[in-house]
Amino acid sequence: MYAQELAATARAMMARGKGLLAADESNGTCNKRFEQVGIPTTEEMRRAYRDMLLTTPGINECLSGVILFDETIRQTTKSGVPFANHLMQIGIIPGIKLDKGAKPLAGHPNETVTEGLDGLRDRIAEYYQMGARFAKWRAVYTIDGDRLPSRSCIETNAHALARYAALCQEGGLVPIVEPEVLINGNHTLERSYDVHRDVLKVVFDQLFVQDVDFDKMILKPSMVVSGLECPQQASVEDVARATVKCLKECVPSAVPGCAFLSGGQSAERATAHLNAMNAIFKDELPWTLTFSYARALQQPAMEAWKGNDANVSSAQQLFHIRAKLNSAASQGQYTPEMETEMKAVTV
Ligand code: 13P
Repeated sequence: MYAQELAATARAMMARGKGLLAADESNGTCNKRFEQVGIPTTEEMRRAYRDMLLTTPGINECLSGVILFDETIRQTTKSGVPFANHLMQIGIIPGIKLDKGAKPLAGHPNETVTEGLDGLRDRIAEYYQMGARFAKWRAVYTIDGDRLPSRSCIETNAHALARYAALCQEGGLVPIVEPEVLINGNHTLERSYDVHRDVLKVVFDQLFVQDVDFDKMILKPSMVVSGLECPQQASVEDVARATVKCLKECVPSAVPGCAFLSGGQSAERATAHLNAMNAIFKDELPWTLTFSYARALQQPAMEAWKGNDANVSSAQQLFHIRAKLNSAASQGQYTPEMETEMKAVTV
């Protein structure tokens, strides 16, 4: 029923030079980040924070879409416009987080399966009514030596991702399929590569089995990186080469694009990695490679804002610059010297 609309939305999400902002932190995650910088953890503060981000002048030149959380899609800007309508007015597609979080996987300590399938068809219909045109579901995989992730974790999460994606396409939302292999641990780049490959192969197998149309979805992968505690940290170029090699092995060319998560990398590193992939492989990629960052786009702005109206302008400038740098990276046109723009903002 929605075939043409879905394909057009997926293409629009991957428009040249644009990416996605993930602003869909659950209240728990958002509050945790607020606490770290001393912002009060109230509903109004979460609204004001999203208001600051989403009313940043010029942001529509860098963002094709924004992923919202349930609370936010029901809130309005300071001037009383529902956030989804505000985004549509400035040419940004509103999206919605559909999963209900990663919960302990029975019989598998330290592993999770993402929940939220019950009642999902009805929730999709409601969000479509509210203006959402794409959605997100995040599955999480932990690397621990050769032991984790388990087969059970890989298969149960792939099955749920595909059930979610099929329901989205039935209900008119482009599914962002997000299998996140966590950066935490002391694993090598090679181990990260092998895990990403196993995870992505099974995810695409399940998407195929469940008749999900590849041209009407977006993949949101993690990058193939060395674990945070690995003594041997891979270079920017090694990360770019390993990530693209892995995606080429696993991601069908019908998929319009991959929009990476930042996953705890520094803002600069997340931008540099994306840039290297696009600069090195510019004419050889069957899909668009862009960003769908939360922390790597927001962190400097959140730290500058601190919950204070007087800081809105500097926070918006920092957010806009980060978005512009990532827009450049999505075209392989970023250089580290461009970071000086960030330092010039007075907070
Ligand atoms: P990060 O970019 O902070 O990893 O968040 C992306 C995201 O949407 C996680 O689900």
